Parts: sequence; C-alpha cells; structure tokens
Amino acid sequence: MPKAQYGGRHTVTMLPGGGIGPELMEHVKEIFRVGGMPVDFEIVNIDPQSDGNLDLEYVITSIKRNGVAIKGNIETGSLDTGIASRNVALRNELDLFVNVLNCKSYEGVPARYPDKIDIIIVRQNTEGEYAMLEHESVNGVVESMKIVTAENSERVARFAFEYAKQNGRKKVTTIHKANIMKISDGLFLETSRRVAKDYPEIQHNDMIIDNCCMQLVSNPHQFDVMNMTNLYGTIVSNVICGLMGGAGLLSGRNYGDHYAVFEPGTRNTGTSIAGKNIANPVAMLNAAVDMLDHLGHKTHANILSRSIRKTVVDDGIRTADLGGSASTSDVVSKIKKYVIEETSQMKW
Ligand code: NAI
Repeated sequence: MPKAQYGGRHTVTMLPGGGIGPELMEHVKEIFRVGGMPVDFEIVNIDPQSDGNLDLEYVITSIKRNGVAIKGNIETGSLDTGIASRNVALRNELDLFVNVLNCKSYEGVPARYPDKIDIIIVRQNTEGEYAMLEHESVNGVVESMKIVTAENSERVARFAFEYAKQNGRKKVTTIHKANIMKISDGLFLETSRRVAKDYPEIQHNDMIIDNCCMQLVSNPHQFDVMNMTNLYGTIVSNVICGLMGGAGLLSGRNYGDHYAVFEPGTRNTGTSIAGKNIANPVAMLNAAVDMLDHLGHKTHANILSRSIRKTVVDDGIRTADLGGSASTSDVVSKIKKYVIEETSQMKW
C-alpha cells in the first residue's frame, strides 16, 4: 500500500480508457467528491489509434509514481491495425502477475444462476496465451507462443493458496488443459500441486478447462478458489459474470509486488453503449471500492459498497442489463444520495 500524503490523502492514477470508461469515471469522481473520499486523481489517457508508445509510457510512469490506478479498458482495435494490446503491455510492464475476481452474487438481482455463487478467481495475468508472440513461419502457417514459466506459475499458485488460507476458504481448484498441452499446462499444474503441499489445511483438486465450463453452469457451488492461466481466466471470468448478471456488476483487481490496478471484472469497453446513459456503473464503482479498501480507507470503502447494495438490491434501481429501467445517472444519483447521507452522519 503506498504511503498517504499530507492529510491522509492518496493520489491515484485514473485511466478512463475507451467506450463507457470516460463517462463512468466522471461518476466515480463525482461520488468521491460528495463523499469526501481522501483520494486525488491524476487523469491520464491513451489514444487507441496511435501506434507510438509515448502515451503508454506516460501512463506507466504515472502508475509507478502513485502505486495504484483505476482504469477502464483500452480498445485493442481490429486485426488490420496491427496495434498490440495496451492493456496487456501495461500489465506486463508493471508485472501485475495476478488478477483476482470476487464473484459473489447480488441476492435479489435477476441472474441466469438464481442461487448464491461465491467463487474467487485467481488468474495468471502476464503470460500464457497473452504473450503476443505470433509469426507466420511459412505462407499460410502461423505459430502463436504460449509462455508458461515455473516462476510465475508458482507466484500465482502461492497467491491462490495464501488467499484461501487468509480468507477462511477450504479448497483451491487448478484449471488446465494438461491432457493436450502436456508441457506448458503440465508445468502450471505440477507447480500448483507442489505449492499445495505447503498448505495441507487447504484441499486441492484440478479440472480440465472444458469440463470446468460445463461444471460452472451446471453446479457452480462446487468451486471455492480457482487458480488458472491467463486465457482460461478471462473465459471463466466472463462465464461467471454472465451467470451472475453480466458485465456491469463485478470488479477485478490486478496485483504485482509493487503496484495495484483496479478495473471492471470483464474488462470490456462497452463501446456500443457508450454515451447513451445506459451502462451499468456498478462494476466500475466496485473497482473504486476495491481501490479504497486497498489504500486502507476502509470506512469510505464500506460506505460506497453499502450505498451500491442499497440502491441495486434493496431499492431495485437497476439498469437494463439487470432487467431494470433505470439510466446510469438514476443509479448513480441514488448511490450518491446514500453516500451523502452516511458521510454526513459520520463523526470523524
Ligand atoms: P463489449 O465491450 O462489446 O461488451 C460485451 C457486452 O457487454 C456488450 O453487449 C456490452 O454492451 C455489455 N456491457 C459491457 N459493459 C457493460 C456495462 N457496464 N453495462 C451494461 N452492459 C455492458 O465487449 P467485447 O466486444 O468483448 O470487447 C470490446 C473491447 O474490449 C475489445 O477491444 C476487446 O479487446 C476488449 N476486451 C474485452 C474483454 C472481454 O473479456 N470481453 C477482455 C479484454 C479486452
């Protein structure tokens, strides 16, 4: 956690990204203003069309300086632009080796899976299928490299088991395709089995990714903490978000040894709904809750989290993706009202 500045305030990098990111960040800023949250934002942007890396370098320097960031997703662009993903480059540069999603159902919110789900996804975040190392070896034959290292497999497995231990969880399930990718996923699986031996109090099992997707939609309650490589992680995250109510609810946390970046869990841009005042603001606001919590501003994090729940669960004020008829600003106004009510009653 970075040290606070004068008055206990933190400066955090804010990268609005593309699509719905900028409008949602305006809501984050406004809620922080009315709630007196002790955070100042350094706002940085990346032009998705530019193929130079100057703006990316500037963003990375800003995050290194502040230690913490909140971000929307940067549009990667179509195949023909040839521009590599800035999201991936940013995570790699900052060595944000793990992505964590707390997938806990919002009771009463319409969802594909009506019963309560409570799963933690721990995903390797910097290598695997996201190595972006592809080439056409001869005409019509393309090779794409999947990089799995013992070092990063161990870091992510240890994170999963430590998380389980510290949060009273009982089981870690490692997800893989080691029956086909015997060397790469085999290394990931063997490493997690080795790490599991250091945590005899936590049960460890493993499951092949295809079966895992089927099990998730038929019996998600068997999962507790899930540990997996990068591509399986994004697929499983999107499946679970879909079961629980879609892209607009859950947040995701990216951690390395030195920096932390908070963002919506499914990491998409929502470009088709941008500027229409219909995007669900909850995932981005939950990212802000995670960020406040990480900075040690627990009281403010709890106020914002409670205000979101009161609005979405108790009052049923929800955007169309959750079966409601409220606009983004309707949801935000109600959350803001609760934040103001709670903070005005606080004795600091
Ligand atoms: P998208 O941005 O089109 O979103 C998928 C669906 O979720 C759309 O129907 C969208 O309207 C809906 N949605 C997203 N956020 C919402 C919100 N807050 N409230 C209500 N509905 C919401 O996703 P797509 O096409 O997968 O990705 C677009 C861009 O995001 C691409 O540049 C891609 O590279 C990037 N991206 C997407 C990831 C994903 O997991 N889908 C992961 C990483 C990057």
